[in-house]
Amino acid sequence: MTERNPPEHIGPEGPSVIPPPPRREFGEFGDVVEWLAGRSGMSRRGFIKGVIASGVAVSGVPYLANASPRPSLQSGAAERLIRLNVNGQTRRVDVLPNETLAMTLRYKLGLTGTKLGCDRAECGACTVLIDGETHYSCSTLTHRVRGREITTVEGVESPSGELHPVQQAFIDELAPQCGFCTPGQVMAAVGLLAANPNPTREEARQALAGNVCRCGAYDHYLNGVMRAAREVSNGADR
Ligand code: FES
Ligand code: FES
Repeated sequence: MTERNPPEHIGPEGPSVIPPPPRREFGEFGDVVEWLAGRSGMSRRGFIKGVIASGVAVSGVPYLANASPRPSLQSGAAERLIRLNVNGQTRRVDVLPNETLAMTLRYKLGLTGTKLGCDRAECGACTVLIDGETHYSCSTLTHRVRGREITTVEGVESPSGELHPVQQAFIDELAPQCGFCTPGQVMAAVGLLAANPNPTREEARQALAGNVCRCGAYDHYLNGVMRAAREVSNGADR
C-alpha cells in the first residue's frame, strides 16, 4: 500500500517536504500547538496569538490530532440503497444513515409538496402519514420507515386526479393564505378524518395543534376540516 505524499511547504528556498510529526506528539493539546508553531516558524506565544486572532487554526487542531485514514466513500453503500413505499409506489433510493425523511422526500424523490419550515419538530410543515398516522418528516430518520407506508400530500388525491375532500374544503373555505403550511395542514386533517371521520371542532383543533400557520388562518383551516368531515360522512352514508 502506498502512503499519501506528505504536504509540501513553500519556503524561501522553494518547495520542501514537511515530515509528518511523530504520532506521540499528538498526545497532548500543548504538544500539537508546539508542533504547529514550529511548522509555521513562529514562537509558541506568537502562534497562539495568531490563532486567537483568526479563530481558524484552532478548529483544525482536533482534526489534525485525530487524523486517521478516511473511510472509503463506498463503505456501507449497499445498506444505503433502500426501498421505500411512498404513495403506493416502491421507490429505490440512496439514503445516508442520518438522513431525515423530509430530505429524502424533497431532494431525492422530488416530492417537494412536503415543506421544510423549522426542520426541528416545531411547525408541522413537513407532516406526512406513516402507516396512516401523522409524523413530522423532518424528525424521522428515513432508515426507520423502511417497510412502512408513507403518504405525502402528492398521494392524497384520487387516481383520477380528484382532490381529496380536505383539499377541496380548504379551497372552499379560503384556508391557504401564503400556502406554505398548507400541505402539512392537509396531511394532519387527512390523518384525523381517516381515524375519526366525524370529529368535533375541538377534536379537529387538537389534531391540527401541531401545525403552525404564520398567516393565522387557523379558523379557516378548522372550517375546512369540518366541511371535509361533513363531506366524508355524507359520502359514507350514501
Ligand atoms: S419542518 Fe418539520 S416540524 Fe417544522
Ligand atoms: S397559510 Fe401561510 S403559513 Fe399558513
